[in-house]
Amino acid sequence: MLAAALALGSLAGATLATPFFSPVDAMNLFSRNAQISSGCSTSGPASCHNTTKETNLCCFESPGGLLLQTQFWDTDPSTGPSDSWTIHGLWPDNCDGTFSENCDASRDYTNIAGLLTAQGAADTLSFMQEYWVDINGQNEQFWEHEWSTHGTCYSTLKTSCLPSGSAKGAEAVSFFNTVVALFKTLPTYDWLSSAGITPSSSKTYTLSQITSAVQSAHGFIPALNCDSSTTISQISYYFNLKGSLLDGTFVPIDTPEKGTCASSGLKYIPKSGSGSSSPTTSAGGSSPSGTGGLPSKAHLQASTTGALLTAGTWSTQTPATYTISGSPSGFTLSTSKGKCAVSSGTLACGSSVSTASTFTAVTSGSQLLLAFQGSTAWTSDSTPSGTDQETVFTGTGHSVDYTIAIVST
Ligand SMILES: *[C@@H]1O[C@H](CO)[C@@H](O)[C@H](O)[C@H]1NC(C)=O
Repeated sequence: MLAAALALGSLAGATLATPFFSPVDAMNLFSRNAQISSGCSTSGPASCHNTTKETNLCCFESPGGLLLQTQFWDTDPSTGPSDSWTIHGLWPDNCDGTFSENCDASRDYTNIAGLLTAQGAADTLSFMQEYWVDINGQNEQFWEHEWSTHGTCYSTLKTSCLPSGSAKGAEAVSFFNTVVALFKTLPTYDWLSSAGITPSSSKTYTLSQITSAVQSAHGFIPALNCDSSTTISQISYYFNLKGSLLDGTFVPIDTPEKGTCASSGLKYIPKSGSGSSSPTTSAGGSSPSGTGGLPSKAHLQASTTGALLTAGTWSTQTPATYTISGSPSGFTLSTSKGKCAVSSGTLACGSSVSTASTFTAVTSGSQLLLAFQGSTAWTSDSTPSGTDQETVFTGTGHSVDYTIAIVST
């Protein structure tokens, strides 16, 4: 593997002139979630790179200073958006690759969703509901497992490291915020697809094609894992950390270990249309009448309150009926006003729309969520009431974030 890694390094070095080093500053990752401040400096050595014994382990991650952000590509059943990998976790391995698990049973929190909501991290939760999803739909158990198994092992997340008066579970909320923010900087699907590597039921890829594509975009070599050595199933990005996991700086590194994939013949299997082949698609009570559980007529209901009107605006008035044409992996929407499109990040339906946008549907628990360019995040300036109509924007850049469920009429 050393020879392969060196070969990759020289290949990338020959084709790319820009230096790769790009630490990810956690402080810049949190524009919206109030994140606890550690008070730690990030100018000292990165974890696993100290030359003397570090004594303040609230500000220096140890012994688990080798961090892996692991992502799934789940196709059996398909889990998460069809054009995104999903979060597995952020694990603190020891510097030599060994690791500890389940480090503090007294902090095995339950109701992670409630904890996040209560502590100002509803955005993180809604992102997790799309991108940190369990293969069997048991998201809450999966999040509890990731926290109790791995999260409790971070030295910099010990309760004694938190500012006094911090709410119970605040360090777990920070952990989830951090993992989500870091994951957003590692868009594996987009990196591969811009190198021409897309899921295919017929094509195969070599390991070096995949790892070189990621290295070109990210700067560092990830580890790739496969089921039965050739079905791509997981990727791991490695980091060391400067400062605390609460607000430190992630320093990306090449993977120190080989993944489980063979060197060629790798299958990057497409996720099935709706993002899930699990029975949850039809378990929502409404009987699916369109392709793959997608209804042909639906209301578009916001996760917080209200629904979309004929113009594509958000309101608590009577929901409009949307006509859906296509499949979960690509469909258009129209209302009595006309076709629907997202233009400059704004959703609108009407006679002035000449080309309808293509949307996708993502299964989340028992719901089918509306997604645009792979994201189920929608946002408005405020929550409507009475006869207000709020403009619906893509992303999370406005004051109120929500998801939109496609509910058969
Ligand atoms: C780095 O600091 C940790 C934590 O105190 C310590 O266990 C380790 O031995 C140190 N490494 C070196 C090379 O001094």
